[in-house]
Parts: sequence; structure tokens; C-alpha cells
Amino acid sequence: MSETSPKLRAELDGIPTYKPGRPAAAGGPVAFKLSSNENPYPPLPGVMEKAVAAAGNFNRYPDMACTGLMNELADRFGVPVSHLATGTGSVGVAQQLLQATSGPGDEVIYAWRSFEAYPIITQISGATSVPVPLTSGDVHDLDAMADAVTDRTRLIFVCNPNNPTGTVVHREELERFLDRIPSDVLVVLDEAYREFIRDAEVPDGLEIYRSRPNVAVLRTFSKAYGLAGLRVGFAVAHEPVAAALRKTAVPFGVSQLAQDAAVASLQAEDELLGRVGALVAERARVYEGLVKQGWTVPPTQANFVWLRLGERTADFAAACEEAGVVVRPFPGEGVRVTIGESEANDIFLHAADAFRSRL
Ligand SMILES: Cc1ncc(COP(=O)(O)O)c(C=O)c1O
Repeated sequence: MSETSPKLRAELDGIPTYKPGRPAAAGGPVAFKLSSNENPYPPLPGVMEKAVAAAGNFNRYPDMACTGLMNELADRFGVPVSHLATGTGSVGVAQQLLQATSGPGDEVIYAWRSFEAYPIITQISGATSVPVPLTSGDVHDLDAMADAVTDRTRLIFVCNPNNPTGTVVHREELERFLDRIPSDVLVVLDEAYREFIRDAEVPDGLEIYRSRPNVAVLRTFSKAYGLAGLRVGFAVAHEPVAAALRKTAVPFGVSQLAQDAAVASLQAEDELLGRVGALVAERARVYEGLVKQGWTVPPTQANFVWLRLGERTADFAAACEEAGVVVRPFPGEGVRVTIGESEANDIFLHAADAFRSRL
């Protein structure tokens, strides 16, 4: 018998692997990780207690319907449980959305550069990516995105604020865009960084979804709520879409630890959002510091800043690392830097200043 490898789907050829932000090197000179848009604060004691209690039962499968969490989310956001679906992080839910809508021959539109999982999960689904360049100001070009719709378009991601640029789209332009999208195309408002927004012109996707059956909103517990390591996110969508998400979910994908910690986080929201407020203040300090140093920085509403460094990207990232912070380079394009604890932000600002003075 000749030896052949098992047949794999041709769609997988050439898929770029997801690159996580690098951790700070153990034992090395680097002290702070600003490369994954994580929350720098440790878990709240009350949330930790709930997770530890759940850990005592991990010989059992979790509640597959995530009943407690669904009820808590329904209460918190004023939506019916039938409009909710959970998954292993919002990236898991995004993948469920693609499985539910798109396959070979279909098209998926997203801005580029945006969240790096979009091209990967689109390619896995077998659908064709239609990336639409950001404007020169690093903002979604919603007119060009609407122009890109064809009768093969099944799903459009709008990342608001956009990862990695931190830029936002405003209410009026988003409504105008949605008016142009056929009602059988799903528009996914990815609001992973929603809680960091302070610009009143940025709409809450949940207000928009209520009157638009082709809009789904993605949210996560990974960022503002600080549960990145537990992997839990959710979508709010009208019934046919939410029901399809429950069908495409990995059975028992959200652990009981994650479910209980998410419920506890919603119940401790005031405290958690207080921490978000401190990060937003740090964001302003970092942004203003960079502008004062002479950098051009797109206004950011997320927990990170973007520096379009082009060919100097790798050198800048190396300089930051030498100074004690790991940032996220996108080779040839720019560097994304997460807002961390004040000490980390100080180190970053010093490194940026030193780099600029050498230019
Ligand atoms: C825009 C955006 N969406 C979704 C996610 C996924 O987050 P998670 O899967 O941890 O919920 C991220 C994470 O970086 C993100 O930046």
C-alpha cells in the first residue's frame, strides 16, 4: 500500500496561523506584556472565589445551555434569552457565525487591517475574503465596504472600535451604511472593546440590533471584564441567527468556571468598570504623551494605541522590548500597544521618546 497523507480540505492551504501577542520573557529583562490587549488587573477576589468553587466540580460537564449566564445577560442588556448565544470567547462566536452563514462561493467583507482572526476564520469556512482597505485615517471605509457587496456576500464584520487602530465609526455613518446593506446579509458589529468607549457619537450596537434583524452584536468578557484566560464571549442577535449559533456551538464549549466567573463579573460590574475608567485615563495620558513627542496617533477608543511605523516597525518593537515592554508589531505596517499598568505605560512612553529622538 502506498503511503499517502489523509486528505485535507484545500481551503486550509495557506491559512496564516493566528499569532498571539508574545509574552514577557521569563527571567529576561522584559517585565510587561502590552501585546494582547489584555486587562492588566488581576481577577477580583469575588470573581476568583466563584471560579475556584466551580473548579471543585470539573469532573462534571458544564451547563451546556449556560442558563445562569444567559439569564444574567438577558437581565443586564434587556434582551430575550432567545436572542443570546455564548461561545469560547467572541472569536469562537465569530467562527460560529461564519459556520452558520458562509461556505465555498460566498463572500465575507471586512475592513483591513482589522482583527487578524477575520481572514483566518473566513478561509476556514471556505468562503472568500473581501478585505476593504481602511481610509488614510485608519478608519473603516463604510462606503467602500457597502460598494463591495455582491449577491454572494453573506457576512460583513464591522469592528468598532477597530483592532489594531482603535478608531471608531459613528452612529450616523453606521446607520447610513446599514441602510445600504441587503436585509439577507448579516452585519456583525464586533464590540470587543465596547466598555472603553467614551465618544458619545459611537453607537451601542445593542440599540442598533433591536430594529435591524440582519445585525448581530459580538461582545466578550476577555477585555474590560478581565476573563481572557477563561474564554467566554457572546452574541446578541435576532432569533434565526441566535438559534443558528446555538447549533454551530461546540458542545459544552464554555466551561463552568467561565460561566460562573462571567456571572460574578456582571454582578461586580461597578468595580470592574471602575478599573476600566482608570485604563481610559491612562489611555489619555499615553495618547497625549505620544502626541507631545511628535507621533501621529489615530484617536483611540479602545485599550490600545496604534503607531503606523511602516518599515521601522520591527526596530521600534525591539527597542520597546529592550526597555521592558513587549508590544505587538505588524511587520511593515505598525505597532499596537496595549494600555497597561502605569509603570508599563511609563516605560513605553520613555522608549517611544528615545526612539523618536534617534530618528
Ligand atoms: C476585535 C476583536 N474581536 C474579538 C476578539 C476576541 O476576543 P475573545 O475571543 O477573547 O473574546 C478580539 C481579541 O483580541 C478582538 O480584538
